[in-house]
Amino acid sequence: MNILLLGSGGREHALAWKIAASPLLTKLWCAPGNAGIAREAECVALDAADHPAVIEFCKNNAVDLVVVGPETPLVAGIVDDLAAAGIKAFGPRKAAAQLEGSKGFTKDLCSEFNIPTGAYRRFDNAAGALAYVRTQGAPIVVKADGLAAGKGVVVANTLAEAEAAIAMIFDGKFGAAGTEVVIEECLVGREISFFALCDGETAIQLATAQDHKRVFDHDEGPNTGGMGAYSPTPFVTPDIHDQIMSRIILPTVAGMKQRGTPFKGVLYAGVMLTEQGPKLFEYNVRFGDPECQVHMLRMMSDIVPAFLAACDGELKHFDLRWFPDPALTVVMAAKGYPGDYNKGTQIEGLDEAGKIEGVEIFHAGTAAKDGGIVANGGRVLNVCAMGKTVTEARERAYQAVDRIKWADGFCRRDIAWQAVEAEKG
Ligand code: AMP
Ligand code: GLY
Repeated sequence: MNILLLGSGGREHALAWKIAASPLLTKLWCAPGNAGIAREAECVALDAADHPAVIEFCKNNAVDLVVVGPETPLVAGIVDDLAAAGIKAFGPRKAAAQLEGSKGFTKDLCSEFNIPTGAYRRFDNAAGALAYVRTQGAPIVVKADGLAAGKGVVVANTLAEAEAAIAMIFDGKFGAAGTEVVIEECLVGREISFFALCDGETAIQLATAQDHKRVFDHDEGPNTGGMGAYSPTPFVTPDIHDQIMSRIILPTVAGMKQRGTPFKGVLYAGVMLTEQGPKLFEYNVRFGDPECQVHMLRMMSDIVPAFLAACDGELKHFDLRWFPDPALTVVMAAKGYPGDYNKGTQIEGLDEAGKIEGVEIFHAGTAAKDGGIVANGGRVLNVCAMGKTVTEARERAYQAVDRIKWADGFCRRDIAWQAVEAEKG
């Protein structure tokens, strides 16, 4: 098979690595890719926002399957446009991608199909939103409705913070994403992520994984796209798993089908384990980044038949197998991230780091320059490792980090601390 992968982050490097291992693969391209993905795929300078150009590339190169990594092209309807041109693509269509593209859409779905979530109201003007938060008080959560690159959510601990968030969203900073806000009850409990592969009707859970969103150790500092992840996590017990499947994931898949907009692809639920049970606080419609990196390391099954089964509505008879060993990834980011940072700084020692047993390094924001590797983004490298325990995987990953010579980079030193504590017993 000929496959085109869209995206350029660590998630896409992990996907490229896994797809490249499939015996079904003839040729893999990645658009636009990065310096690490270039080891697995031929990188092509295609813009995923230019749907006619992507379609033309697929036709010229007899592409059998397109795998879409990030949410932006999904929400823009690339899967619909490819389907109209007769090209198979893994990921939800535009109408189903609204689960990530509009927070209000997801909340309305929850209310229609009785899916547990926090109380909420939607507003298209600041005055209404301000009046509502004043009646509700703090803490309260203010969200820009649309895609805002992970920056559109403010968990406001005071009324003043909530008011400032509403003003910020409506002042145009988020463009079209900020023409509406969702004001939501602040949920209290442990936050977990839950991933399921869906074919419009059936959902198969992926291995459990946990991300670390704050930029600094001890979960301090601003939120980021994710600074590290590990799998499996000790917090999704079989009972919690069953509750999330039966009360959240399956009603969502059934509801989307009933509405005539079936969901195909990876459904990534942000769930709070509250005293009243698991409650959904958001959906993403794609693999997590960096959770995908640990998923790909632990996935024993060939991923290509899984993509095809999801596209073709054949997951009912499908099974995904996982290696029992834990996997962990440490994100190395450019100093200053998630704020301003420099690009173009030199990175050395990657080959030496990659020699450590169990270690795999996925590139996120990198570029090739003069025979070397330079930083080309905020999150730059994913230093991953497998081990017999989370503790061993973590030791290997940090040994590898310590062999990487990159003066402008930093990482968290406490990835998977909860699981490591649990392993100490
Ligand atoms: P997001 O940028 O959409 O990933 O959301 C950022 C973070 O906001 C999430 O990871 C949660 O920690 C937090 N969050 C979102 N919704 C709620 C809620 N209703 N209650 C408490 N925390 C929330
Ligand atoms: N790791 C968070 C995300 O992929 O949205």
